[in-house]
Amino acid sequence: MKDLENIKGSRVYGRRLSKPLKKRSETRLREYLPKYSISIEGGQVDLKKLFGHDLCEFWLEIGFGKGEHLISQAKANPDIGFIGCEPFINGVSGLVDHMVRDDVTNIRFFMDDARLLMDAMEKQSLSRAFILFPDPWRKKKHHKRRIVSPGNLTILAKILKDDAQLRIATDHHDYCRWILARLMEDTNFNWKDGHPDEWHKRPADWPQTRYEKKALTVGRKSTYLTFQRKPR
Ligand SMILES: C[S@@+](CC[C@H](N)C(=O)[O-])C[C@H]1O[C@@H](n2cnc3c(N)ncnc32)[C@H](O)[C@@H]1O
Repeated sequence: MKDLENIKGSRVYGRRLSKPLKKRSETRLREYLPKYSISIEGGQVDLKKLFGHDLCEFWLEIGFGKGEHLISQAKANPDIGFIGCEPFINGVSGLVDHMVRDDVTNIRFFMDDARLLMDAMEKQSLSRAFILFPDPWRKKKHHKRRIVSPGNLTILAKILKDDAQLRIATDHHDYCRWILARLMEDTNFNWKDGHPDEWHKRPADWPQTRYEKKALTVGRKSTYLTFQRKPR
């Protein structure tokens, strides 16, 4: 297991392993890693080459947790190639179990810091990106670890196509204000604001995540934000 935990990225994520994987899940993860995981060893990643068949678009999910949203979107959109990034090994293992069980073949994953993969992606290669319930890093001294940051938005703006959607959800009030402030000051994005009532309604094509379910059970409301990559 130590070999799976060994990664290069700097610390912007939480735990890599919450509990040891069951033998069957570990064996399955090792079996499917070569088939479904993305390597950045060769420099730039050609998304079209990751999948054995032609796909019309590519969507990215950063920090997919255990992959509920990613799996649902992949099943609902079989013509789209999904790229998931998640350094949490138990989460990736859960995703692989689900992919195998339901024969979902249009997902590839990167088991590391999303920023490493984003740096290796071609410009204007993505039609949509999701950052759902990112870690809020509550303490002020940890705010620099927040994944929604000016630097990461600049990389996203580069790899998103014109008019591409960026969807972000959070249940954390202070992080929500931070996200809106960072996106408003970034000249590459527009906010599809709508009526304030709508910010708390999850759109129908936006499957619920595990984290969001947990937040609901303890009475925390979530906010769903959709931004658009401005045409260049
Ligand atoms: C609070 S959890 C939310 C998980 C999932 N999106 C959900 O809503 O259930 C945040 C996730 O982001 C992942 N994460 C944090 N930093 C990351 C990074 N730099 N690249 C990729 N994933 C990251 C964490 O490992 C964690 O699984």
